[in-house]
Amino acid sequence: MAIAIAVTRERREGETRCALTPETAKKLIALGATVTVEAGTGAGSSIPDADYLEAGVTVAKDTKAVLERADILLKVRGPTAQETSAMKPGTIVVAMLDAFRDKDTVAAMAGANLTSFAMEFVPRISRAQVMDALSSQANLAGYRAVIEAAYAYGKGFPMMMTAAGTVAPAKVFIMGVGVAGLQAIATARRMGAVVTATDVRPATKEQVESLGAKFLAVEDEEFKNAQTAGGYAKPMSAEYQAKQAILTGEHIRKQDIVITTALIPGRAAPVLVTAEQVATMKPGSVLIDLAVEAGGNVEGAKAGEVVTTRNGVQIVGYTNLPGRIAADASALFAKNLLAFTGLLIKDGALTLDLEDEILKAAVVTHGGAVVHEGVRG
Ligand code: NAI
Repeated sequence: MAIAIAVTRERREGETRCALTPETAKKLIALGATVTVEAGTGAGSSIPDADYLEAGVTVAKDTKAVLERADILLKVRGPTAQETSAMKPGTIVVAMLDAFRDKDTVAAMAGANLTSFAMEFVPRISRAQVMDALSSQANLAGYRAVIEAAYAYGKGFPMMMTAAGTVAPAKVFIMGVGVAGLQAIATARRMGAVVTATDVRPATKEQVESLGAKFLAVEDEEFKNAQTAGGYAKPMSAEYQAKQAILTGEHIRKQDIVITTALIPGRAAPVLVTAEQVATMKPGSVLIDLAVEAGGNVEGAKAGEVVTTRNGVQIVGYTNLPGRIAADASALFAKNLLAFTGLLIKDGALTLDLEDEILKAAVVTHGGAVVHEGVRG
């Protein structure tokens, strides 16, 4: 029997993305699988059911029946409790599980004896680049952050010299120059803003400058060692953070837009902009906090809300920015999933090689237990 791949509608609040496109469906079918999608799955990404049908996918209305038959379930976010209980033991689930935080979903999947893989744990080795969902989504989030900033900001981005006077270019400061930050710099530059950026990893200095932006950071001994072997930032000392706050504080006061993207994997996001600093900004200025779901980089940011401060500054705390550019986010995420699923299928049959470096890093639950050390611990 062919492997049954199922994709259900996203049920988490505000989730507009989907885990399958007609293009990836065709490729999954070519691997020897049958693909069933729940009706309406692509709606938030402008993919009608008819397009799935045309790609050879079965479109089903009965969610329970779809799940009961599945060998592999592909999703954007973790399955709901109801979805989890509808699946047979041994079903493989692949999604952005947010496994460090969403312990309930992880426990439910372990209890139902599902084998689950978290896309956010796929290691950043070259073989897995095509599966790197953190990057594919962060890149779009960085782009969209600038669009949201431009929308909230009551002035223009580029310098415009007109007969009626000159419009000054917007000053944009990007804090945290990972994948999202780099795309935010590039986007803001394309729109004509004057862009500066900061990060604690020395490697970012050259990247910032190569995009035509100016780099600003406390470049001391600690800074020189702030990058882990895996390429991520380390938590910085209180002393460093104090020096950083003095340097950036003076700068923030003069900015029109500040976009923060700083994260440290598995920990709360560092606070980079204090309420006091926000209070020094000009009325009409905008802050976009991409780290709001991890606790936030901006004091006063609220998840899912736009807060207007007493001095007329907006702090935008939208969650799920990739979901605000859903059609592209789904297309890229579905490609990441397709590549990952390729590791689970050999010659048309299901293979579960948990010694594979990528699968080993990404597996969260298996055999009725939570097997990922970081999540269990
Ligand atoms: P992330 O989302 O974990 O963090 C975003 C940024 O915040 C990082 O650049 C980090 O250094 C910065 N940050 C943390 N604490 C900060 C602080 N106190 N002040 C200022 N900035 C702070 O990072 P992301 O986007 O996941 O990228 C991390 C690294 O992984 C980068 O070096 C990136 O180039 C690399 N990478 C490698 C890939 C590969 O080799 N396949 C693929 C994607 C990313």
